[in-house]
Amino acid sequence: MDFKRMSPIIALYAVFLICISTKHGACDLEGNKSVILAIDASAQSGRKIPDTLFGIFFEEINHAGAGGIWAELVDNRGFEAGGQNTPSDFSPWVIIGNETTVLAGTDRTSPFKRNPVALRVQANCDGNGCPSTCVGVYNPGFWGMNIEHGKGYELILYVKSLDSINITVSLTTSDGLQTLATSNIVASASDVSNWIKVQLELFAIGSAPNGRLQLTTRKKGVFWLDQVSLMPIDTYMGHGFRKDLVSMLADLKPRFIRFPGGCYVEGERLWNAFRWTASIGPWEERPGHFGDVWNYWTDDGLGYFEFLQLAEDLGASPVWVINNGISHRDSVKTTNISPWVQDTLNSIEFARGDSNSTWGSIRASMGHPEPFQLNYMAIGNENCGMNFYRENYLKFYYAIKEAYPDIKLITNCDGSRRTLDHPADYYDFHTYTSARNMFRQKDYFNSASKSGPKAFVSEYAVTDSSAGTGSLLASLGEAAFLIGLENNSDIVEMASYAPLFVNANDRRWNPDAIVFNSAQMYGTPSYWMQHFFKESSGATLNPTWILPDLSSQLAASAVTWKSSDHASYLKIKIVNIGSDSVNLKILVSGLTHTINSLSSSTTILTSSNAMDENSFLNPTKVVPQKSVLTDANTEMDVVISPHSLISFDLALAQTVYAADM
Ligand code: AHR
Repeated sequence: MDFKRMSPIIALYAVFLICISTKHGACDLEGNKSVILAIDASAQSGRKIPDTLFGIFFEEINHAGAGGIWAELVDNRGFEAGGQNTPSDFSPWVIIGNETTVLAGTDRTSPFKRNPVALRVQANCDGNGCPSTCVGVYNPGFWGMNIEHGKGYELILYVKSLDSINITVSLTTSDGLQTLATSNIVASASDVSNWIKVQLELFAIGSAPNGRLQLTTRKKGVFWLDQVSLMPIDTYMGHGFRKDLVSMLADLKPRFIRFPGGCYVEGERLWNAFRWTASIGPWEERPGHFGDVWNYWTDDGLGYFEFLQLAEDLGASPVWVINNGISHRDSVKTTNISPWVQDTLNSIEFARGDSNSTWGSIRASMGHPEPFQLNYMAIGNENCGMNFYRENYLKFYYAIKEAYPDIKLITNCDGSRRTLDHPADYYDFHTYTSARNMFRQKDYFNSASKSGPKAFVSEYAVTDSSAGTGSLLASLGEAAFLIGLENNSDIVEMASYAPLFVNANDRRWNPDAIVFNSAQMYGTPSYWMQHFFKESSGATLNPTWILPDLSSQLAASAVTWKSSDHASYLKIKIVNIGSDSVNLKILVSGLTHTINSLSSSTTILTSSNAMDENSFLNPTKVVPQKSVLTDANTEMDVVISPHSLISFDLALAQTVYAADM
């Protein structure tokens, strides 16, 4: 314990209290532990926390994007998911009708060069000869489309036919029996002899969380469909993102967003890795790809441009993770890496180049003539030690630094315990472990090197059985870890939980911060835990001491921060991962403000059982509970409940000097 760093009065008082507690034993009459938390809130002992400390990591995993935050309701909208050899599997599209009334199959008649597959529908019945349901196809979306009464949906599709067409477009319940919105596409043979784009709005007169889109006819003949898209009109900032899910991200006030992976960037095989060039430009022309690490198809509606847009909309700095020629099973030799380096430089020009530049002009044509901010890039994901990583890294590093010296570059090689043999601004650090171990790792960076690149903890989470599918216990281990990062934020400059989202219908990784389906969502305790840290980035860290040492059970930090309306707060956070409550005396020294107890509050994340979780049925079982802190003061006796994360938010009033009165 460094008493020298404490203000003398607090140190003396603390020593006195320790003596008493040692003499009488460290427990009160009820057996609760008695502990002091000393906080030095004097301006001179504070240290600024980096502005970027807490952000988010978005990976296309668990249908986080396709069938997740990207609001597109049609799955496999371009019929490409079955591959480019036809006939192919066009699921999840389903035929309406039977073999005698309708035939549907893919062929390569698409008007789009990069995605040649289209769907040919042949209706073999006419008028009343057709079944009452008509014949055609339907798309169930990603485990159902959330159709909401009173809301509008924009349908865009491409169609052609040798004959006139009369196609009914409808949104229906999952069984197709109830129509929620409908419209007709009627066109003469000459109008549709070549592909035409049809765009219309559907307004729902009923709701179904698991609805579907139907395209049916009662007219004998053949028509082709391609690039069938259905989007809710109301999306986050009008940019195509699901409003409810992205609002949950915005509520975290993330300072950065790392994207698009993770392993998704690498691919199991290189030919299945995310390619930014295939994900930009008109959505109709994007080929889509099969992500072979998480094993699902994406139409790439959520592409590089959309990620940059999302970052801008969230006020978060984009952290663009690029593939440096390495997948889980392939490595491009350094002698052959130049085109990959050029491709990366092109991606930067796309984001930052002016609107007359080759790649910047494509961005401008997509509706964003102003450059995007792009200041952070990671060269690869978890590739350190793989064949050619270091050599390839250096090629990327020097090429990017030469063209864009201000871009901060992140290496995959962990520099926390050794000096790196290559230059970097940050080293990437990932940790997935048990709740207990995560708690212990709050001290991990105490002994990390203070020279060399800073740490970017871009993936952390409790993942063993102590996590359940998102337990309170896991969130407490993580909260303690983040407290450790705050206390070591001279070394650690960025941190993000992983993964962010899971569509409950396709859980490829467990646990995750936000669980959702087509219409519902909830935050796991790990999501809510992050709310306790959203004021930390850019705040001032105040030194804290726990006396006597109870570091196997408690973790604590204190920060002072200013709200947008210039009100100041001292936020004290404490994790108690033990199953006993702790009687804590909080002693704050060095404050130059008085405390406004009416505006002070306390917030707790806890539950009766450490393994408690939230669920669709009980989404708020473990969420922060806030109450007024009427006895807010520089000296407070509080009880820290077992298995809890608690904050004391002291509202600081401006000091009033006698001369001002
Ligand atoms: O977060 C899930 C995965 O964990 C990421 O894709 C990868 O980087 C890590 O192994």
